Amino acid sequence: MSGPSTLHGALMDNVYRYQRHIYDATRHNYLLGRDRLIADLAPPPGGTVLEIGCGTGRNLIALAKRYPNAQFFGIDISAEMLKTANMSIARHGVYDLIKLAQADALRLDPRDLFSRSDFDRIFFSYTLSMIPDWTGALSRAASLLKPGGRLQVVDFGACEDMPIYFRRLLYWWLARFHVEPRLDLGLAMRGLAASPEKVRLETLYRGYAVAGVLTA
Ligand SMILES: C[S@@+](CC[C@H](N)C(=O)[O-])C[C@H]1O[C@@H](n2cnc3c(N)ncnc32)[C@H](O)[C@@H]1O
Repeated sequence: MSGPSTLHGALMDNVYRYQRHIYDATRHNYLLGRDRLIADLAPPPGGTVLEIGCGTGRNLIALAKRYPNAQFFGIDISAEMLKTANMSIARHGVYDLIKLAQADALRLDPRDLFSRSDFDRIFFSYTLSMIPDWTGALSRAASLLKPGGRLQVVDFGACEDMPIYFRRLLYWWLARFHVEPRLDLGLAMRGLAASPEKVRLETLYRGYAVAGVLTA
């Protein structure tokens, strides 16, 4: 990788170099909606699933155990996170079902990485909020869907049904880790869809999280 990717990759490595060791244990309580996405994903038998920004591999491992007939792929810009993901996947005995590669969501070419050009399911779990050009990443992902495939997102929401002080505190704290909730997620997803009804957006946990689904 070169140019801006290298800078962002270095930033992500700095964020996660030590955090990765406690990531799965500490994120359980506040990256809400991930298990809901996993249950909802339901790839077709023999289908292909790509996670963009797979981190420690936590979601891919759960998916491989739940849908052992599908094939799973993960990319992440952080070499540090991928070290943990590779170890964790081996420890859980699902190494044959999951392939990982280091890549930037914005320059993702799955033909180079995995010898595949499209996927039945592609998802971002708490990743778009860490990608500066998040609409570019979303657009790149949408272009890699098979006809009838689905792009799914879960991330921090607008906290619309929460006290304003909670939202201010949460957003201040997230910014310290280079996380910025994407309040225009629905707009961006609808802009990529063939028609508005191809996008479903749901507010979760009083707006703490948001889940979006775009069907190709
Ligand atoms: C908050 S973690 C989420 C990890 C995982 N998806 C989860 O649900 O636990 C965000 C991940 O996105 C990755 N990331 C950030 N920017 C990226 C980019 N431009 N391309 C690929 N991965 C990226 C980070 O390295 C990190 O592993």
